[in-house]
Amino acid sequence: MINAVDIIFGLCWGDEGKGKISNALSSKYDYVCRWNGGPNAGHTVYLNGKKYKTHVIPSGIFHNKKSIIGPNCVINIDKFFDEIEYLSKEGFDTSLIKVSPKTHIITERHIQYDLKFLKPKLGTTGQGIAPCYSDKALRIGKLAKDYLDKKYIWNGELYGDILCEGAQSFWLDLNYGDYPYVTSSETLPYSACSLGFSPKKIRDIIGVAKIYDTKSGVDPLFPESLWLDEELNKVIDLGKEYGTTTGRKRLVNWLNFNRLLDAVRISGTNKLIINKCDILEELNIFKIRLDNELGPNFIKFNDFDNMKEYISRELKTYCDVVFSGDKENI
Ligand code: IMP
Ligand code: MG
Repeated sequence: MINAVDIIFGLCWGDEGKGKISNALSSKYDYVCRWNGGPNAGHTVYLNGKKYKTHVIPSGIFHNKKSIIGPNCVINIDKFFDEIEYLSKEGFDTSLIKVSPKTHIITERHIQYDLKFLKPKLGTTGQGIAPCYSDKALRIGKLAKDYLDKKYIWNGELYGDILCEGAQSFWLDLNYGDYPYVTSSETLPYSACSLGFSPKKIRDIIGVAKIYDTKSGVDPLFPESLWLDEELNKVIDLGKEYGTTTGRKRLVNWLNFNRLLDAVRISGTNKLIINKCDILEELNIFKIRLDNELGPNFIKFNDFDNMKEYISRELKTYCDVVFSGDKENI
């Protein structure tokens, strides 16, 4: 029987440091599961001073936990086995990795279509994500059960305490994000139920944000003119804002606080972790944006205590807020 489900997910545009949080919590659970996306994601995890990178395999694998890839994920078979080989060489028990029989398979045709038509226009990761989900919706997709050895196929079992790790984030969600500058899956916590549990089993919804916003890929909300801003360039350099999957420089802007409030409210976040606070502390710049119809409107705080007080107060009715630093480990 399932005892409880906790969900970690991103509240912004990805790259909030979800991997770090799920790695810190994974050891307390029986299962760690992914419910959306595929090799477009990149999780960075530090364990005993060593850096590991994964794209599709949940972080439970680093803690000897059953690691499930759900039916609403998509996988690239070659990359999946590359990741298994890498983790196995590093000494992790890869027999714990199971894939839903209904997970869809990304093919070379999906990748070619993405690279030719989508990446140039939308700045996708070029991993074939949208064409794969599109074939799924057309009901002509290929399923993992027909492509993977039985030993990798999940029997649907879940029990005890479950941790679900989201990939991408709230504002990249296919329904809530700024379409078409989104990904092709559902990134909100409710969609974790596609793994096969009732929403009533959800205990904690742990939203992860960053003290400033970043976006990989094209987005009118992040115009390229931001790259001319001296202060924001300092944030990019100190925060090492380069993509895990693509190596691209990310677009950076001050925290869009209205967006964060909406994401917390709609998702049901009851615990909020805001990462990378030490970057702003080191730069001694404390700004947020409160956008409205008239355009961006900034609040500048004198120090970080003032900024923390404001954020915690505004979010008090929804969640507790933890401010986290440790820029070396993201
Ligand atoms: P796709 O998911 O490759 O189709 O890319 C669609 C949009 O989502 C692009 O703007 C990507 O940069 C962004 N994106 C997809 N996955 C991630 C991620 O894991 N982190 C950050 N951005 C992502
Ligand atoms: Mg990531």
